[in-house]
Parts: sequence; C-alpha cells; structure tokens
Amino acid sequence: MGQEVIKIRGGQTLKGEVNINGAKNSAVAIIPAAILAEDNVTIKGLPQISDVETLVSLLGDLNIKTNLTGTTLEVDPEEIINAPLPNQKVESLRASYYMMGAMLGRFNKCVIGLPGGCPLGPRPIDQHIKGFKALGATIDESSETSMKIEADKLVGANIFLDIVSVGATINIMLAAVRAEGQTVIENAAKEPEVVDVARFLISLGADIKGAGTSTLKINGVKHLHGSEHQVIPDRIEAGTYMCIAAACGEEIKINNIIPTHVEPLIVKLKELGLDINVGEDHTQIKRGNKYTSVDIKTLVYPGFATDLQQPITPLLFMADGVSFVTETIYPARFKHVDELKNMGADIVADNGTATIKPSKLKGAKVYASDLRAGASLIVAGLIAEGVTTIYNVKHIHRGYTNIVNTLKSLGADIWTEEV
Ligand code: EPU
Repeated sequence: MGQEVIKIRGGQTLKGEVNINGAKNSAVAIIPAAILAEDNVTIKGLPQISDVETLVSLLGDLNIKTNLTGTTLEVDPEEIINAPLPNQKVESLRASYYMMGAMLGRFNKCVIGLPGGCPLGPRPIDQHIKGFKALGATIDESSETSMKIEADKLVGANIFLDIVSVGATINIMLAAVRAEGQTVIENAAKEPEVVDVARFLISLGADIKGAGTSTLKINGVKHLHGSEHQVIPDRIEAGTYMCIAAACGEEIKINNIIPTHVEPLIVKLKELGLDINVGEDHTQIKRGNKYTSVDIKTLVYPGFATDLQQPITPLLFMADGVSFVTETIYPARFKHVDELKNMGADIVADNGTATIKPSKLKGAKVYASDLRAGASLIVAGLIAEGVTTIYNVKHIHRGYTNIVNTLKSLGADIWTEEV
C-alpha cells in the first residue's frame, strides 16, 4: 500500500476565509471525560481529526454507544463496562492518558496501555501519577506495555504540581470530580483547554472552582448527569492560519476565534511588522512588505504557545535580521529544523534555542516528524519556490481538519498523492 504525501507548489497568493474548528486539545480531554457522566452527553464543535476518531473508538471499547456525525458526538453510557484498553490505539496518541483519570474517576480502577503521541523528547507523566496517588490510588507499573491504576476509594487531597502541566491538571481533575471531599490542585495549568474541560465537567454537575487560575478547588460529587457542550475554537489551528496569512495572504479572514487566546501570537506578528485587524470573533491578516526579526520564548499560557513555535518559524526567514526562538516547554521540539535546512533555510538549533537568519526557501522532500513540525513544513512549502513534498502526513491529520482542502479554497497550489 502506498503512503499519502502532501505536495505544495509555493509562491501563490492566498485570499479568502477560514472557519476555525473546535480545539483538538480540549476535544481529546472532553471525549474521555464523558465517561464520567451517567446519562447521555452531546459534544458539539469537535474537530474532524484522527485523534478524535481514535478516542471515540476507545469509548466503544468500553461498550459506550457513540454516534459521531460531522462535528457532533453523542455518547450513551448506559451499558458502559470497565474493560482493559488496547495498547495499539492508546499508543497512537498522547491524550489517551485522559482515559486514566476518567476511568479512575468512574470505576476506581483501570488497566490501560502507555500513551504515545508526538515525539517531542521526553514526555513523562509523573505528575499525573503523583496526583492519582495523592487521591488514594496505587499504580502497578510492572508491565512494560500497560499500567494498572486502582483505589478502594478516591479521597480529595492537596496536590502541588512540580511542573505546570496541562495534562496532569486535567487528568487529576477528572479523577477528583467524584472523589470524597475536596481536592486542591496548586500550580495548576491555566490554558484555555483546562478551562473548557472544567466547564464541561461543571455542566455535568461537578463542583470546580478556579479554572483558569493556578489554584483549582474541586469538591467531589456523587453523581454526574448528562449535558450538551460546545468545544472552544482551536487557538493553535487559528494561529497556524494566521502564520499562513502572514506568509502569503493577500487578505485572509479567520473566523471563529477567541482573540485573547491568540493574543501572544498577535503581539509577535505585530512586532514582526504586520498590520492585524482583530474583531470580536475573527481576525483579518495580509502579508506585510517588510518584516523585522523577533525573538520568541515559549511559555505556559498566557505566554507564547509551544505549539505555535514551529508554525511561526518559516515567517522568520522573511525577516531582515537574526531571530531567536527559545523553547522552554519541550527543549527538544526542533525536529522541523533539519527539514527546513533541506529547503535551504539558515537555521541552527542548539540547547533549546533556534537561531534563524534570512533565507530563501526552495521546495524539497521533507518529513513531518510530529504534528506542529508538519504545520511548519506546510507554511514553509507555501512560501518556497518550487514543489515541496511532505512525507509522514498522518501526524498532520491528527490535528488539522481538512487542511489541504482549506488551503486549496484559499488559492494554494496544494494536493495529496499516493507514493
Ligand atoms: N511534564 C512532566 N511530567 C508530567 C507532565 C508533564 O515532566 O507528568 C513536562 C512535559 O514533559 C513538558 C511540560 O511538563 O516538558 C509541559 O507538559 P504538559 O503536561 O503541559 O503537556 P501535555 O499536557 O502532555 C499538552 C498538549 C500539547 C502542548 C502541551 C503544552 C494535549 C493533548 N497536548 O500536552 O499539544 O504542547 O500541552 O501546552 O493537550 C500539540 O497539540 O501539538 C501538542 C503537543
């Protein structure tokens, strides 16, 4: 069987509108969180990506009835069972770790494969485990492929996270919503996706205070009912299209955004020299004539998102001086660098910082090592002279709804091929 590649002939000018989909990193937590509900749940505004399909299929493995139509998922948990979860599906995405917190919260027990996901260097889950243990769970890690987590009962506790972690904050919240008494998570992540998951759990009847601040207080409740929830727009997808517009947009309108969620990017694009119009739920961007180099340091929210560090990098080749991108969340998240070098870019990554000099990009054969590296290569391919062929595009489909057709509709010369 052949493999799909994405091909782009760069240099086109893009024009038109893009509607941003629901946030991947909310969706991948909210779908597992639906396990906690005892009645039917409807989740609206889901992105149409393979990570969503995988998680829905994992719900099916627990005998939960699901109906995913377009962007809406209906979940009927009436016949739910606590089954061990298969390794292969669990390994195909990082967010499968949310099945741990959700199953622990629902059944006080789970057996589950170890999470996979993008290879961004070491991605431990020690803070998740620390939280589960604090709530009274024991963890059997004797198997190399799976983990058994169980508790006689879960009891609220005070948990101070050593590292600000989106995943650990959400996972502990999932395990704690039905625990006995109060759980306090300190040094919690403040990302909008954490707030969205908390909003969903509150809609089920959970008692959670402080989402969006660094202290979360969760008072356990006995039952969680059904609800309907609309996922927030994806700030990283929006940011990726904003970078694309800045690279080659004649005029691109990006609809369905929450401007505050993309503010750190807007600030950088303005520093770079772009003129950006921001409305209540949209932004309009067109390529500037001259870009000034900027320095970027990734930080936890509301700092500059690590997930946008790779997509913005190709823009920095268009600037008139040297830019530095420092990655503090995943210091090894620089797998796009060698691929960009292949395209003629003058970029060096060392010790968590990329040094980026003005360069003219040329089409080349490149490899998407991870989701946002793939997004970076798409932006680069749109700017480059000639044809870029991107291999390993399964990573891109894990996180971007229909990106090839969306770019085509804006006027990009982009297509897929089986090779
Ligand atoms: N960390 C630990 N121990 C833990 C948990 C995290 O050392 O127990 C470290 C990580 O290795 C990393 C830092 O803490 O250095 C922050 O990691 P975090 O837990 O916040 O990341 P995550 O929850 O695994 C989510 C997103 C990522 C995004 C990061 C940071 C999901 C499914 N993934 O990962 O998204 O980069 O937060 O914002 O929500 C992507 O969308 O491309 C992506 C990788």
